[in-house]
Amino acid sequence: PEAFRSLGARRVLLHGEGLLVDTVLDEVSRACARYGGLVWHSPSWDVDVDLVLALRDAAELPNPSVEAARAAGEAALVELGDGETLGDEGFVLARAGDVTVVLADAPAGLLYGLFHVVRLCAAAFDPARPPEWHRPALRRRMLNHWDNVAVHPVMGQVERGYAGGSIFWRDGRSRGDLDRVREYARLLASCGVNAISVNNVNVARTEALLLTERLGDVAEIADVLRRYGIRVHLSVSFAAPVLLGGLSTADPLDENVRVWWAATTRRVYERIPDFGGYLVKADSEGQPGPFTYGRDHADGANLLAEALAPHGGVVHWRAFVYNHHQDWRDRSTDRARAAYDHFAPLDGRFRTNVVVQVKFGPVDFQTREPISPVLAAMPATRLAVELQVTQEYTGQQRHVCHLGPWWSEVLSFAPWGPGGRTIADVVTGEAGAGGGMVAVANVGDDPFWTGHPLAQANLYTFGRLAWDPRRDPTAILDEWITLTFPPSATADAELVRRTLHEIMDDSWRTYERYTAPLGVGFMVNPGDHYGPGVDGYEYTRWGTYHFADRDGVGVDRSRASGTGFTGQYPPYWAQVYESPESCPDELLLFFHHVPYGHVLHSGSTVIQHIYDTHFAGVEEVTAMRRRWQRLNGMIDPSVYERVAERLEEQVRCATEWRDQINTYFFRKSGVPDERGRDIY
Ligand code: GCU
Repeated sequence: PEAFRSLGARRVLLHGEGLLVDTVLDEVSRACARYGGLVWHSPSWDVDVDLVLALRDAAELPNPSVEAARAAGEAALVELGDGETLGDEGFVLARAGDVTVVLADAPAGLLYGLFHVVRLCAAAFDPARPPEWHRPALRRRMLNHWDNVAVHPVMGQVERGYAGGSIFWRDGRSRGDLDRVREYARLLASCGVNAISVNNVNVARTEALLLTERLGDVAEIADVLRRYGIRVHLSVSFAAPVLLGGLSTADPLDENVRVWWAATTRRVYERIPDFGGYLVKADSEGQPGPFTYGRDHADGANLLAEALAPHGGVVHWRAFVYNHHQDWRDRSTDRARAAYDHFAPLDGRFRTNVVVQVKFGPVDFQTREPISPVLAAMPATRLAVELQVTQEYTGQQRHVCHLGPWWSEVLSFAPWGPGGRTIADVVTGEAGAGGGMVAVANVGDDPFWTGHPLAQANLYTFGRLAWDPRRDPTAILDEWITLTFPPSATADAELVRRTLHEIMDDSWRTYERYTAPLGVGFMVNPGDHYGPGVDGYEYTRWGTYHFADRDGVGVDRSRASGTGFTGQYPPYWAQVYESPESCPDELLLFFHHVPYGHVLHSGSTVIQHIYDTHFAGVEEVTAMRRRWQRLNGMIDPSVYERVAERLEEQVRCATEWRDQINTYFFRKSGVPDERGRDIY
C-alpha cells in the first residue's frame, strides 16, 4: 500500500468505459480512500485535478483544463510515437500545466499507465517531467504454473514449487479463494504479465479434466484474472481424446480426433470467451504425444492450433523433448542436441497460431548453459523463450539468487554473432508477432507469495523484462527495492537500498561460484534437485553427465571429437565453441572435456579455478548474511526474520557445496590447492 501513497493523495479524473477502466477506478478509489485523495469518473462539471487517466476515443473531455491535458498528451504522442500507435496496451504520460495526463487507446493501456504512475510516485507529478511513451515489446508475457489440482505423490501440490501450496488448487479441488487470486492478478498486472497457464505441464488424470468436466473451475479463475487484463491458458494432455473423449486414438491425422478437439475447444470458448489457448508438453518425460502414432510435432501442434484458430487462441508447444531413458555407457546420445534435432527440421510447418516454446538453454534451466541453438534455427516459426522463475536449479527460493542479470544475458545474446540480431529480437518477432517470453511461476500460498521474500524480485524482473527485454536488470532491481522497501520512520532508505543491491546484484554469480563449475551443470541431488550430489546423475538415464575422472572433467560436444552439438549453432558460435581455446571460460566444461591443468583465459587452471570460486562463493554468502543484519529493526520484522533464516540455510548449503565439490575434485585429481586451504 505504501507505493500508492503519492497517487492516493491526489485529485484524479478517469475518463472512459470498460471492464479494465472499472479496475482502474477501483484501484484509484482504494488509494484515495486511504490517503485522502479524490476521484471522479467522467464528471460533467468543472473540477480541478492533478491526474487525468483517459481513453483517447472516449467522448469529449468534460472541462477545459482536462481538455488541455489531453491535448498535451496527444502532442506528446505525435512527438514521441514515431508514427507508431499505442496499441492495446500502450500509454503516453505527459504534463499539461499542473496536471499529469495518461492517455491510452485501450483500457489495458490505462491500467498499465496507472501502475506506471504508482511506480514513479511523486516523480509522476514533477512539473519538469518530459513526456514519455510506453508500449510492451512483447505481446504475450506469460507465466506457467506447474500447479497440480490433485496432490502428486512425489511432486506435491506444486511441482518444483518452493512457496507453499497452490493459490488455485488444494487436495484435488479448486481452493475457491478468489480474493487471493484477485490479489495475484493485481500483482501480475503491476509488473506487466498478461497471460498465465493454471496447471502443470505434466498433466495427470485430474488435471486433464480441467478441459471438460472441470472447466467451470478454470472459468472462475478466468473471470477474476480478466479484470486485470490477464488471459487464462490451460495445459492439456495430448491424449485427451482417449482419456476424456473415449476415442481409441489421439492420432493427429485422424478425422474423429480433429472433430473432438474442435468441439471441445468450442465449448471452452463458450464458457471463457477470451481463453488464451493450450500449453502442451508432448513426448517428453512420459507425457503422451504424436510419436505414438508415427507423427511429428508439427502434426501434433497443428491439430490443436486448427481447433483454436477460429476463436483466436494459440498453442504453446514445448520444445523440451528428449530421451530420458538414456544409457550412460552410450556416448553418442547427447541430451543437449535433442530439441534442435526434433524441431529445427520442422521449421515452416507450424500454423501461425503455434508458438514453439523453447527453454533458454539446451538442457534444463541450469545456473549456466549456452543459449539454446533452437532459438536461432527456426526463422519461419514463432518462438517463445522459456525461463524458470521458480529457481528449481538456482537455490529453490532458499538461496538469494537474483536472476535478472542472467535473463538479460540470455536476451541480449546474439546467436548469429556479435552485433547481430538477439534472442530478444527473435522472441519479439516482426512487429511484435514473435512468441514472447514465458516463465515457470514462483508464487504459492506463502504469506510472502514467494518462499524467499527477496525472490519476489525475480517475478517482478521477469514481468518488466517481458515488457522491455532490453532494460538494464539492475535498474529493474532498483525499482523493485524502492517499491518494496519505501522510506519509513525507522529506516535509513538509502542504507536499505544499498544493502539490498550489495546482497542481490551479483547473487546469481555467487550461486554459480559455489555450485557446478564452468557450465558443466547439475551435480545436484537427484529427485529434489537441491544441494550438492556430484555423481547424483552420473550413471542415470536422464542424460546429464560431467564425465570427471582422474585426468579431467567436462563433456566433449565438439564436432571434431564429441557429440557434434557445437554444429547446431550458426557459424560464428559453432566455431567459437568448437575449440577449448576460443570457448568462453564460463562454458568450457559444457563444451569440452579438459585436463585439470588446462589454463583458462583468466590465467587460472581449471582445478585451481574450482577451488578458488568455491571458497569465494561461501565468503560472499557469509558477507550477505552479515550485511542483512544491518537491516535489523529497519524493515518489517517478519520479512527480516524469514530472510535471516534463509540466509543461515544458504551459508550452510553453500559450505556443503564448497566442501563436496572441492573434495571430490581433489580426490579425483590429487592436485592440492595452491593456497593450502582446507580441503577434506
Ligand atoms: C525439469 C523439472 C521437471 C519438469 C520438466 C519440464 O526436468 O525437473 O519437474 O517437469 O523440467 O520442464 O517439463
